[in-house]
Amino acid sequence: MGAKSHKCDSYRDPVVKAFRQRQDLSPFARCRRSRSAPRSGPSNRTGSTTAARPSCRTKASAAVRIGAARLLRFHAFARCAECETRAHQVCKRNQVERKLVMGFEVRALDGSFGREIVGLDISAAIAPDVAVALKQVWLDHGVLVFRGIGTSPEVQLELSRCFGELEPHPIEKFRLDGYPELILLTNDGGPVGPVYDFAGVATTQRIPWHTDLAFTTTPNAGALLRMVRKVETGGQTGWLDTAAAYDELDQATKDEIADLEAVYLFRAGLEEMRFNRPDGKRLSPRKDNYPDFPPVANPLVWTHPETGRKVLNLSTLNIEYIVGQRDEQGDALIRRLIDHALQPRFQYVHEWENNDMVLWDNRRTMHAAFGHPVDQVRVVHRTTIKGNVAMGRVMPEAAEVGAGA
Ligand code: SIN
Repeated sequence: MGAKSHKCDSYRDPVVKAFRQRQDLSPFARCRRSRSAPRSGPSNRTGSTTAARPSCRTKASAAVRIGAARLLRFHAFARCAECETRAHQVCKRNQVERKLVMGFEVRALDGSFGREIVGLDISAAIAPDVAVALKQVWLDHGVLVFRGIGTSPEVQLELSRCFGELEPHPIEKFRLDGYPELILLTNDGGPVGPVYDFAGVATTQRIPWHTDLAFTTTPNAGALLRMVRKVETGGQTGWLDTAAAYDELDQATKDEIADLEAVYLFRAGLEEMRFNRPDGKRLSPRKDNYPDFPPVANPLVWTHPETGRKVLNLSTLNIEYIVGQRDEQGDALIRRLIDHALQPRFQYVHEWENNDMVLWDNRRTMHAAFGHPVDQVRVVHRTTIKGNVAMGRVMPEAAEVGAGA
């Protein structure tokens, strides 16, 4: 490029801009493309004595400081072919992982979706622009894995707050002492929930595919688990991408379900599930001291309030019947949708190590706890990110379960 004025593409890239702000980089520097010298003036921190050629107005100084070639190459790959976002950095063209300008890397996971965040510095408070970038990756990918960095409740809380307001568990006994926003999930001192015999193994904490609070009108936005003490056998957690599952339905099915609602109920045990019930024999006594949750009718297809994507709202643990189709035909439709959504290609299953943290977007996923032998102790801390968008309606009494659709 000659004397003609230009701006490097990276100037306009919000990620590069944010990086420059973080690093306090000079807004004016030598442009690698034009080889022109920086403009003179107080912003010239390059120390160059060359007279400025005023024609070059490039502001790619971030590139200059950290190596122009690297950043400009980064820029060339920054728009992901999969989701069009610029906030992360797994290039579909060659699967190369590059250092994000925000100070963390984003890597593909083994499963169909979700991303791993690598190199995030949590030794100090997370800067607001880093939090914004993390939140964008979360919205783009539904599940984020942070391996090995969840070393304390403070770290977990600091990270969780990047994604929204936290919601303390309404029942005090589930809160971790001294940390009202942390929920303690453990069978240390007795099983957490019901115990079932699966293939001869007494198993606790097996929770089939569900969306948190699907039995209310306002599901939480997300949650973050931290593995404090893993078990040797089982104990995995799986996530399922209900946005991709919706996208891959055929058009006729999309049209068929577009305006349908389904009824969702609170479930205290596997035996109450109508669909996709795991084949276990209950070993622990039934408890009936749960709060009364009225039946709700929520859309079967939900529009994600932040991304605008359509998601399949199935929550297999809770779904009861389709409003207006409380018959074999409606049940067959639910079964068909569940069979479709539960395909392994929509799933990511996490094999836990201690100090791993996994965050999910509850509005775009279902998750399942695979359970573990009751004689092994597992300790998990969880934060919940508050939801504030209502999606359905509490059923009027006349239409409640048992009274027909
Ligand atoms: C949860 O659903 O919050 C817990 C999942 C797990 O314990 O693996």
